[in-house]
Amino acid sequence: MRNNGPAGPAHVADLIALARSRRRLVAFTGAGISTESGIPDYRGPGGVWERNAIPTLEGFRGDPAVRRAYWDGRRERYPAMLAVAPNAGHRALVELERAGRLQAIITQNIDGLHQKAGSDPDRVIELHGSTHTVRCLDCGRRWAAPVVQARLAAGESVPTCLHCGGPLRAATVLFGEALPDAALRLAAAAARSCDLFLVVGSSLVVNPAARLPGLAKRAGAVVAIVNRTPTPLDALADVRVLGEAGPTLAALAAALVGTTPPDGADPGRADPDGVDHARE
Ligand code: APR
Ligand code: ZN
Repeated sequence: MRNNGPAGPAHVADLIALARSRRRLVAFTGAGISTESGIPDYRGPGGVWERNAIPTLEGFRGDPAVRRAYWDGRRERYPAMLAVAPNAGHRALVELERAGRLQAIITQNIDGLHQKAGSDPDRVIELHGSTHTVRCLDCGRRWAAPVVQARLAAGESVPTCLHCGGPLRAATVLFGEALPDAALRLAAAAARSCDLFLVVGSSLVVNPAARLPGLAKRAGAVVAIVNRTPTPLDALADVRVLGEAGPTLAALAAALVGTTPPDGADPGRADPDGVDHARE
């Protein structure tokens, strides 16, 4: 098995070979697994942070104009968010879970697409929360997002907590906020107990999440990274595939679980011509 960190990317065949003898896979996903569903990532070209200021808790709390702009934007964006469909990458992880090869998905994503694809919600650890829940920043009460969306549709411009009058926002972790304790503990336990830690579509630059691959490695797992671009943890990877999440995971699931890959391509390769194309 090539540790092909700095040496260069491997083929999907190397990932399949690494995964074949392993039965306790944990997937660690970032925004890159959802771009093929049409959701932009954060740090890729045209990513969210290129177009928007990074939201902070004090910025949201302290400025009524920020809250107003947030809820105006959410009134427009949330219905489209609800309509987004999972892609081949999400579905491949469902196949691996149903075949008993995937223990858990640790995701940094807030889009809920793993659950929408059919992953067992009890096996999806949402490190950064979910856009499909709304929370009160004061008393912590939570509502399903569609309940608050209905209040917006009924004419409320900046919904506040019905219990304490506090400010409401999606139950996602903002920069400067601590990650949910329970999620972090579950993620660390999953990383320690797996035998293959599979990173998919993350730039691996945000802590504490980015410390999980090292934790898994120190606990004895092998690490694979599937990403369109190089990451700071590539040297840690036993196999690194520079390529698209969807086709790569579909080929992996096809090889391990025997399902037919979507385009009938040879499961041994992410790309029919066998060269791993990294999209710019
Ligand atoms: N296939 C494979 N890799 C992809 C694809 C794809 N289809 N699309 C994008 N990528 C890669 C990009 O090259 C990039 O390296 O996925 C990575 C996404 O990185 P980020 O945009 O930084 O997203 P993520 O790693 O999930 O960010 C972590 O940062 O801003 C916070 O809370 C936010 O959860 C987010 C966290
Ligand atoms: Zn409240």
